[in-house]
Amino acid sequence: MLQRCILRTYHVFALVLCVSAREDFDWTKNEKTSFYYSTFPTGFSWGAGSSAYQTEGAWNIDGKGMSIWDAFTRKKGKIFLNDTGDTSCDGYNKFKDDITLMKDMKLNHYRFSISWPRILPSGLKSEHINEKGIKYYEDLINMLLDNKITPIVILYHWDLPQLLQEKYGGWQNVTMVNYFNDFANLCFERFGHKVKYWITFNNPWSIAVEGYETGEHAPGMKLKGTGAYKAAHHIIKAHAKVWHTYDMQWRSKQKGMVGISLTADWGEPVDITNQRDIEAAERYIQFYLGWFATPIFNGDYPQVMKDYIGRKSGQQGLGASRLPVFSPQEKSYIKGTCDFLGLGHFTTRYITPKNYPSGLGDSYFADRDLAELVDPKWPDPGSEWLYSVPWGFRRMLNFVKTQYGNPMVYVTENGVSEKMVCTDLCDDWRMQYFKDYINEMLKAVKDGVNVKGYTAWSLLDNFEWDEGFSERFGLYYVDFSNKNKPRYPKASVQFYKRIISSNGFPNQREVESWKRKAVETCASSNQLLAADPLIGHMEMVSEIVIPTVSTLCILLSAVFLMFLLRGRI
Ligand code: NOJ
Repeated sequence: MLQRCILRTYHVFALVLCVSAREDFDWTKNEKTSFYYSTFPTGFSWGAGSSAYQTEGAWNIDGKGMSIWDAFTRKKGKIFLNDTGDTSCDGYNKFKDDITLMKDMKLNHYRFSISWPRILPSGLKSEHINEKGIKYYEDLINMLLDNKITPIVILYHWDLPQLLQEKYGGWQNVTMVNYFNDFANLCFERFGHKVKYWITFNNPWSIAVEGYETGEHAPGMKLKGTGAYKAAHHIIKAHAKVWHTYDMQWRSKQKGMVGISLTADWGEPVDITNQRDIEAAERYIQFYLGWFATPIFNGDYPQVMKDYIGRKSGQQGLGASRLPVFSPQEKSYIKGTCDFLGLGHFTTRYITPKNYPSGLGDSYFADRDLAELVDPKWPDPGSEWLYSVPWGFRRMLNFVKTQYGNPMVYVTENGVSEKMVCTDLCDDWRMQYFKDYINEMLKAVKDGVNVKGYTAWSLLDNFEWDEGFSERFGLYYVDFSNKNKPRYPKASVQFYKRIISSNGFPNQREVESWKRKAVETCASSNQLLAADPLIGHMEMVSEIVIPTVSTLCILLSAVFLMFLLRGRI
């Protein structure tokens, strides 16, 4: 009797624990407080990011196989100006220079991705392992560690081996789960003694929606209303499998962690006193972040996704929901497969309900029954979708805390772009963006959100997917028209450096001087960049252009001398 009673109490207690892991997010409280001067906890990790296809170039060098992005960019009209990532920043050959830049900024970590077809050209481990590809990543990792920069490694930042797309239909096919697991296992085997932070997927929302629903991204499939859900289903399974592989085979030896990186915008109710707006905003987030985070942290798709997609599928006369279903075994296999959450975040939308009659818009977007709005007063210096709304970041971080049991969070992407026409290295708006977003993250830390690190997106200007090279997110400007791909520091490099060295925002007087000081240094970089068309065809001694008065003088006199000589001949 006593035993049974204890057991019952235990069950009730366990139930309470389970339920209390998920708190309610308070939608009605949106404090937009003033700037907060304080610092981050000791040990907070500062970094910058890149991804293989966006940065490496060397698309067909040293035995690399073709990826879906190599194939997609070859189709005319898919990418702005038909740009490709064939050479991009030439990161494959210039990674040593780039580590020098990271060291100069005193970065604690660098997040980058491994190109699957660089290591497994056909995608399959059983067919051929490209040792030259392995060697490239080994060298990169070793040099990072030699410079005390922690590698945070992403296994999949969108560049699926093209042969897996051709043979199996890519992420539409469940066989990807095993192939991806083989690739990940190989990475753990070869690099796991040095790499302690693994991220399975970067931004699976984008892979699913833009790759298989709208077709704006590789592989360019337009399977409206089904493709994205199917791709996501397989990605979630693949993530879980890789986590279990690490857990079973490597964790005890290598002592690392495996997470996933989810990118999502914040959705704010248009009217926080209106229950229907609140529900629509929550739906927006559940269809975005929750689609992946809820199965991984809580065991199944968000109830609201099941309800909405299920109902609409019924109205469309389908026998089953377009949202696939996890079996009970799969749910428990997937639940809890995240040692830390990588979070990518850039912007915010206002949300209000909007009814999409079924049949009309049989798509992921119509399934949500909502409208997205922006405030025209929000600054939007770069990409047309990217408005600067710093308070949304704090809201997002607090949402993560309440919904998923306050997991360990590494911000894996946050930053802002500028339009192509802008060749001004004094990027005042980017400094403002970083200052305000990082400050909101600091407030979130004060709120109790377990944020351990921050990654500025991105280290370098790089290939911005369907936008080609027209949108620049880099701390460093890259001159893509010059075959040496020189890097020039924008003012935000200096600004970010100061945030890093102060581990936050120590006091008003100091912080207010940072922008001014940063702008002072970028004037000379601007001059160097302006001289680039004159000197671009020369072989550079060093291709990292760090503007000191002496380098500027030497370069300008070289140009002057060249004109003189030309005049004589
Ligand atoms: C998130 C993606 O992961 C990254 O590759 C991209 O450059 C940024 N968003 C900016 O669009």
